Amino acid sequence: MLTTITELRSFVQSQRLLGKRVGLVPTMGALHEGHLSLVRLSNEQCDVTIVSIFVNPTQFGPNEDFSRYPRTLDDDLRLLETAGSPTVFVPLATEMYPAGFDSSVHIGGVSVPFEGAIRPGHFDGVATVVLKLFLASQADAAFFGQKDYQQLCVIKKMVADWDIPIAIVMGPTIRESDGLAMSSRNRYLSESERQRAVVLSQSLADAERMIVNEKIRSAKTIRQAIRDRILTAGGMTVDYIAAVDPLTLKELSFIETESVILLAVRLGATRLIDNALVKICRDPSQEESYLFTGNQ
Ligand code: PAJ
Repeated sequence: MLTTITELRSFVQSQRLLGKRVGLVPTMGALHEGHLSLVRLSNEQCDVTIVSIFVNPTQFGPNEDFSRYPRTLDDDLRLLETAGSPTVFVPLATEMYPAGFDSSVHIGGVSVPFEGAIRPGHFDGVATVVLKLFLASQADAAFFGQKDYQQLCVIKKMVADWDIPIAIVMGPTIRESDGLAMSSRNRYLSESERQRAVVLSQSLADAERMIVNEKIRSAKTIRQAIRDRILTAGGMTVDYIAAVDPLTLKELSFIETESVILLAVRLGATRLIDNALVKICRDPSQEESYLFTGNQ
């Protein structure tokens, strides 16, 4: 286990000298199959995988769950043994943010709406820590989950704007058997909340049926159907439901050839997010086929 940036740098340099391709999987720990799937993806595409575990204080708002965020390092290390025992980087907060640290990375555009509007400063904290991890690790590729689709867009934009020489790879959302997207925060849910939470992925599946079977293209109609389904489950308030362009995250009035449906709800004290990618493929015979990713 590496704990300092100096150790991480010299480890990566030694691997590079051996001609190894280095993959990075940034996490905040409390690992589950979603994280492990990214580790496995990195193992497939790279010779060496580094998993960082750091509960990053700068991405939590003053009233958010930083202090109670689950910290389960021993369990995390055991789980990582089942995913090829990658190299683990576990820095202290003073390593990432030494006394006097006074900078922040702001990525415009895609970081502004949705999570950015509801959690001011969140993506600045994410971009700041991820840039530090990119610079410290000098990785060739970094792996992020579709689960946090807007975060992935912010990271991609940062890499494009700053010409950072790293490939950003998206892994699919990994779900519980009933469809709930895995999340470290799911452990906050009471038993009855956990049962109701399944409505998020169910409402995305409804949207899929409407788009595929009923050929509905109005984003407003789709949004309303998702909202109705979620509110019927009870105990939830909706932060946002939107159909957006997959690159710019600009809201769409009509479901386009490629769209993403994003949603966020509050269930008791817990916020849950989910999304589905929609691809409508038109072949030369004008038959439409569909690809929905994320709501299986
Ligand atoms: P964390 O929430 O621990 O997530 C780490 C990575 O795992 C992210 O790329 C996230 O999208 C991915 N992930 C989480 N749940 C997933 C699921 N069910 N299926 C697939 N991938 C999933 O995201 C963060 O940490 C932080 O913001 C971080 C990028 C580490 C910066 O601090």
